[in-house]
Amino acid sequence: MKIIDKIDGMKRLRRRLAEPVGLVPTMGYLHQGHLALVKRARAENPSVVVSIFVNPTQFGPQEDFDSYPRDTNRDLALLGKEGTDVVFMPSVAEMYPEPFNSWIEVGKVTERLEGASRPGHFKGVTTVCAKLFNIIQPTTAYFGQKDAQQAVVIKKMVADLNMNLEIVTIPTVREPDGLAVSSRNTYLNPHERQAAVVLYQALSLAQQLWSQGERDAHRLRQEMIGLVKKQPLASIDYISVADTETLDELDMVNPPALVSLAVKIGNTRLIDNIVLQ
Ligand code: PAF
Repeated sequence: MKIIDKIDGMKRLRRRLAEPVGLVPTMGYLHQGHLALVKRARAENPSVVVSIFVNPTQFGPQEDFDSYPRDTNRDLALLGKEGTDVVFMPSVAEMYPEPFNSWIEVGKVTERLEGASRPGHFKGVTTVCAKLFNIIQPTTAYFGQKDAQQAVVIKKMVADLNMNLEIVTIPTVREPDGLAVSSRNTYLNPHERQAAVVLYQALSLAQQLWSQGERDAHRLRQEMIGLVKKQPLASIDYISVADTETLDELDMVNPPALVSLAVKIGNTRLIDNIVLQ
């Protein structure tokens, strides 16, 4: 496994990689969700590149960039076991040399949900992904369905800007009780960890009501809100039932529909979603 921290070095190595090349962009502190992406990339490509870069530009000033969990040695050991060919792990100065003045902004689909709660977040995500795509030139890049809006935004950027790669999304990996795996789960104390299952319970309730024939999106949202409010450690940021592509909120559920929520458990903000189809 080659470990590269310079853009020039990555570009040079790229020319020698066997085609097609699969890229898994990550911010490190890898969990089973990331490893599922790497396994899928490994199964579909003779060359697999994983990037590890905690991208400062997608964190707001009050967010957890400094405290975001990092464990490079553990990440490299896990990636070695998965048969990763190349790990690209640049520094912040390498990715954003001063003065850095060029940004990619996707319109409407970034304005709601995560975009409304985290202003500037998607501008950072799309800019860093565009840079990674330019440097690594993957045939396919793999993203988790857990960050459903991120996947929608990146697909839109790739389509709008005619970028030369395919975006594949992989189902969310869950703990046995249903909690979606996430690097931020490590912030939860044992009480909060138990309470955090409420996100999955709310999604499961929506799924169950939908399966029983409920098509009123307002009713689904209200039932989910009612359930989450019963959990004293939880505070709701948003609960949404939206079109899977435009992310417009729905009145009536027309499948496929994206049911998503962001909930703070104590100080930790968690997100999750399911698609009703
Ligand atoms: O999903 C993530 O971990 C990040 O948003 C990504 C795609 C690696 C960009 O920094």
